Amino acid sequence: MTGPGTPAVPEGDGVAGAPSATLVTGIVELVTNDPARGGTVGLLRDAAVVIVGDRVAWVGPAAHAPDADRRVDVGGRAVVPGFVDSHTHAVFAGDRAGEFAARMAGERYDGGGIASTVAATRAADDDALRAGLRRLLAEMRAQGTTTVEVKSGYALTVDGEARLLRLAREATAETTFLGAHVLPPEYARDRAGYVELVAGPMLAACAPSARWVDVFCEPGAPTAFDADEARHVLGAGTAAGLEARVHGNQLGHGPGVRLAVETGAASVDHCTYLDDDDVAALSAGRTVATLLPLVELSTRSPYPDARRLLDAGVTVALATDCNPGTSFSTSMPLAIALAVREMRMTPAEAVHAATAGGARALRRDDVGSLVVGARADLTVLDAPSHVHLAYRPGVPLARALDLP
Ligand code: NIG
Ligand code: FE
Repeated sequence: MTGPGTPAVPEGDGVAGAPSATLVTGIVELVTNDPARGGTVGLLRDAAVVIVGDRVAWVGPAAHAPDADRRVDVGGRAVVPGFVDSHTHAVFAGDRAGEFAARMAGERYDGGGIASTVAATRAADDDALRAGLRRLLAEMRAQGTTTVEVKSGYALTVDGEARLLRLAREATAETTFLGAHVLPPEYARDRAGYVELVAGPMLAACAPSARWVDVFCEPGAPTAFDADEARHVLGAGTAAGLEARVHGNQLGHGPGVRLAVETGAASVDHCTYLDDDDVAALSAGRTVATLLPLVELSTRSPYPDARRLLDAGVTVALATDCNPGTSFSTSMPLAIALAVREMRMTPAEAVHAATAGGARALRRDDVGSLVVGARADLTVLDAPSHVHLAYRPGVPLARALDLP
């Protein structure tokens, strides 16, 4: 390989012998998210990327691209980093279309419907759960998502939660133990007993297959958890080597955001109802605010105020929250379009939040940007610019690039 910026070959990549290099050309606009290139998303026009193994080895103007063993021409399209969907509940059985229809006819969401997914998930065999998860992951990839987090939380027994995490781990390294999703019906009169089960034997069974521990901290929802219960579960999880993330402030104002910042959680997700103290805590801390606008769309709720968070210097991520209750969608492009049209994010801010923001929420520095050394997760847009993701809502423009 010759030419300016000759790629550094990452150690250990490729098959025996010299790994082959692929030059991706025809990129009219490249979103790099490289701060060194300036702007919100580090744009580069008429760009090329060289990939060696599974890594980006060179990024620059097409006119200066080095030689490579193979060429892939994307035909005059925009390329963005693969979307990082940092919040899903994609391993479950059944659906809740009836609950959705009732909500559209005026009923409120309070988390109570989760019990019906728990019953269906407990009754499903491994193959059915695996097939459902694979179908959703394929939908995601077909819409440009290349990194996915998957939570447990629809079994709520020791063996059942461990099973969901084993199945999730077959598909992704970003697995989250959410035994503290809701109180299962059999513990309806023993909250303390369930919290001890989650923080003790359930955590011990799940930790080998989980990277993260999460809690649904929503004191206003009768079957979710209050701040003390959530703190106890997160403390046990982190003592077992997991890293914390929190569902907070989804249905009303509550302690979730402050608890997340206080415990050093990587992310607090939903953030639909925030007061000034929450915003100040987020801007002073390192916790990412992950916004899930498909939930507000599907529950007909007010959207979170992304502008207020961004103006306060908070790192914002966008994710789908794909689940059968509040957001049965796998579409990061639709989340981006909603964030721009309903939450006062600019198109560049929304694309950054769906890529680099998601990577921050998962504490990953190898995804969410297209810089030398990053994973070669390229998403091609059937459009000349990243702006089209918001400008053309609902149009299937994005797909993850499959290399030969
Ligand atoms: O993120 N808030 C709690 N958990 C999910 C909803 C799960 C469900 O309704 O099945 C959420 O919105
Ligand atoms: Fe969720």
